[in-house]
Amino acid sequence: MVVVSGSNSTALAQQLADALGWEHHRLETRRFPDTEGYIRIPSEVTEGVRKEPVVLVSNTFPDSGIVETMLMLSSIRDLRNGDLQNFRNIGPQTLPQLGKGVILAIPYFGYSRQDKRFKPGEAISARAIADMLAGLCDGMVFLDIHASSVLEGLKVPTAFTSSMPELAAHLQENVGPDFILSPDKGAIDRASEVAQLIGCEFSYLEKTRIDAHTIVHKAKDLDVDGKRVAIVDDMIATGGTICRAAEALRFQGATEVHAACSHGLFTGGAIARLLRYVDGVHATGSLANARDVISGGPALARGVRQVMAELDLE
Ligand code: R5P
Repeated sequence: MVVVSGSNSTALAQQLADALGWEHHRLETRRFPDTEGYIRIPSEVTEGVRKEPVVLVSNTFPDSGIVETMLMLSSIRDLRNGDLQNFRNIGPQTLPQLGKGVILAIPYFGYSRQDKRFKPGEAISARAIADMLAGLCDGMVFLDIHASSVLEGLKVPTAFTSSMPELAAHLQENVGPDFILSPDKGAIDRASEVAQLIGCEFSYLEKTRIDAHTIVHKAKDLDVDGKRVAIVDDMIATGGTICRAAEALRFQGATEVHAACSHGLFTGGAIARLLRYVDGVHATGSLANARDVISGGPALARGVRQVMAELDLE
């Protein structure tokens, strides 16, 4: 059984393969001079991909990741259907068709935040992309999705998995927080799970986003005087949410403040900005980033096992 990956998730695919005890193969990916993508399943990987099941680990971020994921799934599907016909007539042209067994594991699902039609005429981007990819695989795994409700009822079995157990273990070992803070209502479930696993206090803030770079938190008394606090969120992009929350914590006497998330987008100098407000930044490698210190492999493995069980592939 194999894990395969393209250009954007090689390290995490290896972590998943290690967690499952499977092989990992990197597919061939490159760009044409006009930037269009090219993918190929190398001949030495063909046999592995025709075993059941195969898990493709690939992000839908940045946009080129969507196309690359689609092309890799299309090629894997043809190979498993035994459709090898090629213009140069190389190798066997057909092989026996195989049954279900292609699982797409998405560490960071780009467009997850456009999960509603906020104004008339908008695309519900998260759903549109997930529907398209669901048509090319037999099951899907999403890691720490922003809000799973938009993806309920996809046409293939779906697992929403979380790296919060590994994030909690990492914080406990390296930070030893006395208090976990959710910087907005959307992260309450995640952050409170981390607090529960560590066995420390928890609270949350109410956030209003004025624009992409401006965040306002409602004033709230937090019992953090003299405490070491970790702020836990699903993703950090500009860092604005964390910086404002960290300011409130320092103002109320927190002695140490850390930021932890699953998805470290860290756009436009976010890490430098964050380090003016917090003592440490901790993320998984769902996206390649300079703060990748938490393995996402075990969480993806839990999701893969769940989908395999639903597909009866165990
Ligand atoms: C939003 O609800 C998310 O959970 C994050 O809080 C948000 O995307 C972080 O963005 P930024 O780092 O730009 O404040």
